[in-house]
Amino acid sequence: MKISVLGATGAMGGFVIKAALQEGFSVENKVSSKDNIENLFRNVDAVIDFSCPLATEAMLRCVRNERKQIPLIIGTTGLSKMHLELMKECARHVQVFYSPNMSFLIAILNMAMYAMAKLLDEDFDVEILDVHHKLKKDAPSGTALMFGKTIAKARRREFSDVANFVRYGIIEQRRRGEIGFTVQRCSNVIGTHEVSFMGEFENIKLKHEAHSKEIFAKGAVQAAKWIVKQPNGVYTMNDFTKDMIVPMVKSLYKDFFSHQRDME
Ligand SMILES: NC(=O)c1ccc[n+]([C@@H]2O[C@H](COP(=O)([O-])OP(=O)(O)OC[C@H]3O[C@@H](n4cnc5c(N)ncnc54)[C@H](OP(=O)(O)O)[C@@H]3O)[C@@H](O)[C@H]2O)c1
Repeated sequence: MKISVLGATGAMGGFVIKAALQEGFSVENKVSSKDNIENLFRNVDAVIDFSCPLATEAMLRCVRNERKQIPLIIGTTGLSKMHLELMKECARHVQVFYSPNMSFLIAILNMAMYAMAKLLDEDFDVEILDVHHKLKKDAPSGTALMFGKTIAKARRREFSDVANFVRYGIIEQRRRGEIGFTVQRCSNVIGTHEVSFMGEFENIKLKHEAHSKEIFAKGAVQAAKWIVKQPNGVYTMNDFTKDMIVPMVKSLYKDFFSHQRDME
């Protein structure tokens, strides 16, 4: 496959180039802030973007306005509703893959999050912590927001009604169903997320720690291979992993319950 990288001079861009070459791709165009965004679309099968919201917007506007037919894999975080609307408009004529976290394990955890929120009612208070390096510009992290939205969806609540991003000074007491966010930005932490379901008598904490940014780059490269075979539309990691994980989970629980019977 031939790809372009937007944000090529950045930390993630470097890992994407490395992962793409390891996969046997050729990296045709490396674009950063000094380049013309149009360069992304020269002679490639897909564009992988890990840049910043402004650059992602410029790329999306270009694809929409000029009806470019090059699939996009977007890993940039801190995007707004406007970006999501632009993605939808582009998806009328091209495939758009977007995930604030391209790690496969995070995708599994996101599914686990949904199950936990379904199994545990709102008597369990949810708190989401994200810890990242001090250069990260957006907060909470895209992944923390994704987990929060998954939990709100499982509980059939509007995310904007239950999310609490600010606690300072005299605050109201906790509302039922509230999802609280805590952000730490320090040192060179690649990315840690911890979601706590806090009950009156017991807690469950789900935690993911990234040890290298390479996991996100490898995920994006796999997503690029997958998305070129899909029809036009907006896709997320859930779509990418669904085919693989759902049958696995079904057979897993079949095994689990038959094992329980064996023990009786
Ligand atoms: N989805 C995921 O799994 C995942 C994982 C990790 C990080 N991320 C996200 O990926 C993004 C990049 O992270 P990073 O750590 O690589 O950041 P970074 O090191 O600061 O790199 C940013 C890149 O974007 C380019 N850029 C900035 N403004 C631009 C513009 N106006 N037009 C074109 N290019 C522009 C920079 O080019 P210059 O060098 O020319 O300034 C640089 O190449 C962030 O949003 C981060 O949160 C996502």
